[in-house]
Amino acid sequence: MKNHVLIKKKIKPFNKYIRVSGDKSISIRCVLLASQAIGKSKIYNLLESEDVINALLSIKKLGIRYKKVKNYYEIDGYGLDGFNIKKNVTINAGNSGTLARLILGILINSKKEIKIIGDKSLSKRDFSRVTNPLATFGAKIVSNKKKLPVRIKGSEFLRPIIFNEKLGSAQCKSSVMLAAIKTPGKTIIKAKKSRNHTELIFKYLNIPIKVSRKKNYDFIEIDGPVNFRAFDYKIPGDISSSSFFLVLTLLTNKSKLLIKNVNVNKSRTGIIEILNKMNAKILLKNKKTHNGEDVADIFVKSNNNLVSINCPEKLNSSAIDEFLVIFLVAAKAKGVSIFKNLSELNNKESPRLEIATKFLRKIGIKVLRNGDNIKIYGNPNLNLKSNYVIKNFREDHRVFMMSCIAALTFGGNWKIEDKKSINTSFPMFIKLLEKLGAEIN
Ligand code: S3P
Repeated sequence: MKNHVLIKKKIKPFNKYIRVSGDKSISIRCVLLASQAIGKSKIYNLLESEDVINALLSIKKLGIRYKKVKNYYEIDGYGLDGFNIKKNVTINAGNSGTLARLILGILINSKKEIKIIGDKSLSKRDFSRVTNPLATFGAKIVSNKKKLPVRIKGSEFLRPIIFNEKLGSAQCKSSVMLAAIKTPGKTIIKAKKSRNHTELIFKYLNIPIKVSRKKNYDFIEIDGPVNFRAFDYKIPGDISSSSFFLVLTLLTNKSKLLIKNVNVNKSRTGIIEILNKMNAKILLKNKKTHNGEDVADIFVKSNNNLVSINCPEKLNSSAIDEFLVIFLVAAKAKGVSIFKNLSELNNKESPRLEIATKFLRKIGIKVLRNGDNIKIYGNPNLNLKSNYVIKNFREDHRVFMMSCIAALTFGGNWKIEDKKSINTSFPMFIKLLEKLGAEIN
């Protein structure tokens, strides 16, 4: 089967509603925590994408049973010490940094050595950001020059740690939080602001956690060890998947879209704040709280009066996975947009700041890049006519999806490679575009 798409026409105006699939960050956390709970957890609306399937396969390798029943996944946990590992095992985290880094936290007490491997992209990413703090708990961890494969063997004599998390990485914070629930004594984390799904699900599970929120960071205290019971959880839609449709609608004439039941946790909605500062007028409707997470329907309509932004750095973390599509809006907005201190963007599935710069220049947008800062000279009259081939060498799902949105809104003749990368996070992506009328071959 071919692994590329051809897009030759802009999408026509639409007025529809959609639902996107379950949130990836919350799905992976639910699977890993259910593997540590006592009893059978039921997870509804679990994202069925490769990253999450790899999380299920990983806990299965550690002796945890799961099955799909009707519209939920049942995961049968035996508590904090409930892994049943017969021999040394290898866990393949595929493309998922979240899975690889978080599972290391729950392996802090593993009785056998576990080897973590990943795909080409994950094997290029830094793991010292989690192996350093996890080693101070007392586990034995060996990496390949800070990269995968990482081997971990837990300890019976874990000690709590004080961890200063300076990158604003929710993966590092969460990995240490998961290790803390297995460790006797009080672990203290000073964490630069990042998505707080782990904190919220700990509260939902009645795991004793104290969070003191300061302006730029949070203090988190966890007193372990903490056994907890199996739980039911309904996962809301993913704002990161929604972001492609927000931008598609904004940049398409005379269109409206309602995206139902999306997670709008403040630590994730940077894209909405940024686009609204650019004049987008995106609305949240029907707001509610579910399992501690904020959920709403998101309403967006097309806008021909988008303006540039000098993006406040404090929004970087809550929009970190969305900058590729935000840059498309900057390309079409009036004026020069400025985004600063985006070093973490180059530590994702691919070096996204580098890739975005090349991409925008390829479609004729002036871009100045100075280290981790980028200036985008918007062109409200952007209307492409040429042929474009996007190779997506690093097989980055978000580069593929961003390219499709550019093709459907800016015009031109596009061949976009590596269609299968959408299976990482959003297998429904193309079907949903087609539901809105996109012609994709
Ligand atoms: C995630 C945290 C972020 C984000 C990633 C998912 C998570 O990564 O980019 O897609 O689920 O905790 P970092 O923790 O590296 O910033």
